[in-house]
Amino acid sequence: MKILITGCAGFIGFHLSKTLLKKNHIIFGIDNMNQYYDINLKNNRLKILKKYKSFFFKRCDILEKNKINKFVKINKIKIIIHLAAQAGVRHSINKPKEYFKSNIEGFFNILEISKNNKINHLIFASTSSVYGDYNKFPLKENYNTDNPLSFYAASKKTNEVMAYSYSNIYSLPSTALRFFTVYGPYGRPDMALFKFTKSIINNETIDLYNSGKHFRDFTYIDDIIKGIVSIINKPSKDKVPFNIFNIGNGSSSKLSIYLKNIETFLNKKAIINKLPLQLGDVIKTHADINKLNKYSGYKSKTNIKNGIKNFIKWYLKYYKF
Ligand SMILES: NC(=O)c1ccc[n+]([C@@H]2O[C@H](COP(=O)([O-])OP(=O)(O)OC[C@H]3O[C@@H](n4cnc5c(N)ncnc54)[C@H](O)[C@@H]3O)[C@@H](O)[C@H]2O)c1
Repeated sequence: MKILITGCAGFIGFHLSKTLLKKNHIIFGIDNMNQYYDINLKNNRLKILKKYKSFFFKRCDILEKNKINKFVKINKIKIIIHLAAQAGVRHSINKPKEYFKSNIEGFFNILEISKNNKINHLIFASTSSVYGDYNKFPLKENYNTDNPLSFYAASKKTNEVMAYSYSNIYSLPSTALRFFTVYGPYGRPDMALFKFTKSIINNETIDLYNSGKHFRDFTYIDDIIKGIVSIINKPSKDKVPFNIFNIGNGSSSKLSIYLKNIETFLNKKAIINKLPLQLGDVIKTHADINKLNKYSGYKSKTNIKNGIKNFIKWYLKYYKF
């Protein structure tokens, strides 16, 4: 199958591309290679992907609609998995415009390209952040998402609503996937696991928001990838061909326990600076994963102990400790 993956040099895009290349699919990847975090990490992910003969990379921004439209048309691509976005809740407090450009205007381009090329299935990344402070757990897809706490969450909720209208008006089969705190090897340096590990190793102080008392449904990257792959050939057959699914681990862990696990595997204590809850952050996430399980058989397999162990093993090797 020919598949376009946007954000292929990113954390999830890299793992997804690699998995699909191993399954003999032809992957067309695009990424603007921005400097939101260490560009070497993105370059090194790309280096691995470029070893596959059926991987074709184009460096471009999703704001360059005509370029991507041509790329999709010429290569007769029928599946798009859209992961390129400005990620991160905290960064959206200071730089909302970056989120507006990439996540809303850029997303509009992806919808137009999908419509123009009669894409069989557009799959795109949403987030657990759309649930805001909704406090009935586990979180189900039909719960209210009208109160995003950050502009990042607002941009992703906007994507879901925009896609629904394209599914309705143009019969574009599309699926929103609400990812819950993804972690694992080659993960994002702006996220807790990476930051905590790096700080503990370098004897640096960790800023621990809400004193580590919030809860997250931490989801190991392999489970996320399995979840995405499980629905590629399963676009909605409803009158409005649109679906929303949570992809999470299906359990919730306290951040301080997560940190304890990191300390255990590094065999070293963290130096902690306790801070109040960060603006825009939610107190708890916990995914109900039954909808996706019924639809495609999705099950999560990796608990935080094994997931953190795998990450630390990768980190120590990658940074040559
Ligand atoms: N990692 C998580 O825990 C998590 C949770 C929920 C949702 N998500 C969503 O999943 C998707 C992938 O996340 P990730 O963790 O891999 O993030 P990432 O930042 O590692 O990957 C995103 C990639 O998109 C690229 N990109 C950004 N803006 C672009 C633009 N305008 N044009 C072209 N490329 C652009 C970046 O260079 C990057 O390589 C994002 O949409 C993110 O919002 C991630």
